Amino acid sequence: MQDRKVMIVENKPISVRLWKMELYAPHIACCVKGGQFVMLEVSPTYDPMGRRAFAVADVRKENITIFYETVGRGTYLMANMKKGQSLRVFGPLGKGLFTFEGEKHLFIGGGVGLAGLTLHAKRAMKEGKEVMLIYGAKSAKDLGMKSWLEEENIPYIIYTEDGTEGRKGKVTEALLGFDNSWTVHACGPKAMLKAIKEEGKKFKLYLSLESRMACGWGVCLGCVVKTVKGYARVCYEGPVFKAEEVFI
Ligand SMILES: Cc1cc2nc3c(=O)[nH]c(=O)nc-3n(C[C@H](O)[C@H](O)[C@H](O)COP(=O)(O)OP(=O)(O)OC[C@H]3O[C@@H](n4cnc5c(N)ncnc54)[C@H](O)[C@@H]3O)c2cc1C
Ligand code: FES
Repeated sequence: MQDRKVMIVENKPISVRLWKMELYAPHIACCVKGGQFVMLEVSPTYDPMGRRAFAVADVRKENITIFYETVGRGTYLMANMKKGQSLRVFGPLGKGLFTFEGEKHLFIGGGVGLAGLTLHAKRAMKEGKEVMLIYGAKSAKDLGMKSWLEEENIPYIIYTEDGTEGRKGKVTEALLGFDNSWTVHACGPKAMLKAIKEEGKKFKLYLSLESRMACGWGVCLGCVVKTVKGYARVCYEGPVFKAEEVFI
């Protein structure tokens, strides 16, 4: 992991609150694993304090791609950044422990949580694995990554809670359509991961957790979760955990 100033290659809105940012970061692009993340300096001042964590969703040659939802001061500042501008990026961070074991891989992403899965999904496809992605959201307007999935030829099934697009219901219902020959990888809101852990007991299941992060590299202990082996830092031992080993 390295902390370097990198240049913005692209920064554009792709739906109501979702943005796609591409950064020229060869030192991260070379080595990042699916499930790993970066910490971005959203402002050179103390307003707001600290960096913000984002999953590396894709790699193109020497560039990395992140998808971000504008939810607060830091991400609104990001949305105002321009192509050609530079910012400090620390990464790649976390262990990225998603597995390539098994021939069939099911990815379940809730909202922008999908961005935490796509790099591994693309690499699994490259390895010749059978891949299916479940993209869940409250409503059709929250499915900002859909056109990107199409561009990338990643097979997907949509679930919306209000039924405005795809199948009506929660992503956990998708589990019923798959047998235990599938390895499942999930990333999204805590409630969704909890439900998947509960209802996906028959699967080999990996969960990518999100937690409020200050340092991002194991120092502040602000992101700990309880596991069967004691406490673990989401930013350092995680963010990917085997479902049976982590309490959420
Ligand atoms: C490992 C990791 C990977 C992430 N990957 C992505 C990603 O790919 N795309 C993306 O859009 N977001 C991602 N996030 C969440 C992202 O870091 C936050 O949305 C961002 O820090 C918000 O910054 P802000 O200054 O805009 O909002 P703030 O003003 O800091 O907060 C705004 C609101 O968002 C909530 N919030 C902030 N951070 C988190 C968090 N980590 N988990 C849950 N709620 C939070 C706050 O409670 C508050 O309600 C990731 C977080 C982690 C820990
Ligand atoms: S964010 Fe500091 S230890 Fe994880």
